[in-house]
Amino acid sequence: MRITGAEILAHPQSQLKTVFPISVDADRVGTDRSHYIKTERLVLRRLRPHDVGDVTALVSDWDVAKQAGSIPFPYTTADAVDWIAYADAAWERGSEYIFAIERGTDMRLIGAMGMRLKRGWQGPKGHIGYWIGKPYWAHGYASEALGAFKSFCLNQVGMLHLVGTVFADNERSVRVLEKNGFYRQRLQWRTYPDRGGKRKVWVLQWSPGSVDAMS
Ligand SMILES: CC(C)(COP(=O)(O)OP(=O)(O)OC[C@H]1O[C@@H](n2cnc3c(N)ncnc32)[C@H](O)[C@@H]1OP(=O)(O)O)[C@@H](O)C(=O)NCCC(=O)NCCS
Repeated sequence: MRITGAEILAHPQSQLKTVFPISVDADRVGTDRSHYIKTERLVLRRLRPHDVGDVTALVSDWDVAKQAGSIPFPYTTADAVDWIAYADAAWERGSEYIFAIERGTDMRLIGAMGMRLKRGWQGPKGHIGYWIGKPYWAHGYASEALGAFKSFCLNQVGMLHLVGTVFADNERSVRVLEKNGFYRQRLQWRTYPDRGGKRKVWVLQWSPGSVDAMS
């Protein structure tokens, strides 16, 4: 099964069988519930059960959900409950690290960002996904969060290669990745039964040596 962008952030429990844990210095990440990443305007922290309401409200917007291949739609409270439980279990297994994104000024949950570890022929790759609630778009939040999250993936988890897979018409997301040093590696067709069938996707990659436009 292929994943794209934000869909890793809303995987139903039933798809867990496609995940396999890889220990890439996962012990350095720890399972500390208080683990967080701070940026100038944001705090990335682990999801909590009481995030269900905010997650449901933000992801149930088609403009957010449509950019992921398998976020359920309509998106319900039950989907958010399952996803938060999934995120917790995946973190404990060391197979995926998903953070809620909070705005620093009022600690409002505005989005989420995660990395799933997968084996690739060059070694482990971290597949990045994210979403920002529509009311919070165009403030540079995704770009800012990704800058810090990328450091977490590289320095704390120990990844060498990061990948983002984006519907080709999702220019905003391509831009967020490119601003953080990802480059367009290939354009290909993939099938997403719940998103109109065959879709063109960009696979963007970050590897050592990629130029980071944010720094
Ligand atoms: C993609 C998404 C995360 C971007 O969040 P955001 O916080 O608004 O992003 P940022 O403000 O950091 O950056 C957006 C960039 O896209 C640019 N942009 C906006 N609309 C654009 C368009 N139609 N075409 C090209 N670039 C566009 C912005 O100008 C900005 O770049 P800049 O800082 O160089 O000006 C958000 O729109 C979202 O969650 N969408 C739905 C879910 C999704 O697409 N997830 C990713 C799946 S791969």
